[in-house]
Amino acid sequence: MVSVLRTVNTIESLRRHVCEWRAQDLRTAVVPTMGALHDGHLKLVEQGLRLADRVVVTLFVNPTQFAPHEDLDTYPRDERGDARKLKEIGAHLIFAPSALEMYPDGFATSVSVAGPAKAGLEDVHRPHFFDGVATVVAKLFIQAGCDYAVFGEKDYQQLKVVTRMAQDLDIPVTVIGVETVREPDGLAMSSRNAYLSPEERKTAPELYRALRSLANEIREGSEPAAAVARAEDRLTARGFKVDYVAARNAENLGELTSRNEPVRILAAARLGKTRLIDNISV
Ligand code: PAJ
Repeated sequence: MVSVLRTVNTIESLRRHVCEWRAQDLRTAVVPTMGALHDGHLKLVEQGLRLADRVVVTLFVNPTQFAPHEDLDTYPRDERGDARKLKEIGAHLIFAPSALEMYPDGFATSVSVAGPAKAGLEDVHRPHFFDGVATVVAKLFIQAGCDYAVFGEKDYQQLKVVTRMAQDLDIPVTVIGVETVREPDGLAMSSRNAYLSPEERKTAPELYRALRSLANEIREGSEPAAAVARAEDRLTARGFKVDYVAARNAENLGELTSRNEPVRILAAARLGKTRLIDNISV
């Protein structure tokens, strides 16, 4: 489907479009992204199109969620390719603000998140990440004023953090999670996969394989901590530097306390300079 797709760069024009749609009683969805769109992002847009009559996709590489040593400057950018893909799929509006539009001089406010944001997973390795994400996502929710917001389970802790944040700040948006989209060999799609060398790319699907074996072991009754330790060893033996592998309560990401709670396995590991994250349910 080829739709009319507009790109706007200011909060004012974003608001104008969404207000017009709302005045016509159209349902709206927003899909926040940092661009360099792949099929995983496009699945979110498709979900948005199922839920709503109009879909806004935001493209903004948010500086406040990157630490100084991280890849802000080299993060892949492809606005033209993104616009082409979004037009093909039938999205209605791209919001691509500048850093100054989002963080004007004198900007001094930040959303500080706890609960799932302090679960001892990504937060340990990227201490400022979730405040940066929560701040920009709260702004995008308020700016767009959409009925729905669509996020990927690929970033499971992030999904839980933004869901909690919207609830806690009484932002009237329904957050929807979409299953992770994978390459045929199981590697979760990610803009950062482009950093992998050909050799690392061959090894990368081991992360998903290790998580699947771990999920099976736990399902079949293995003690989670021992099974997690085996998965870590397996990944280390394959050349990963493991940041964490964890089996947690799937709802609040807390430590497991009983045998019959919903379990999610989450992991982050580095291959060379590339940091991969993945998660699956048990
Ligand atoms: P980004 O990494 O661009 O991801 C945008 C959205 O796409 C997130 O909700 C993410 O979970 C989802 N996504 C990425 N890869 C996916 C895959 N393989 N399958 C399904 N969904 C996938 O996450 C961010 O940007 C930023 O932190 C953001 C929320 C935009 C705030 O700056």
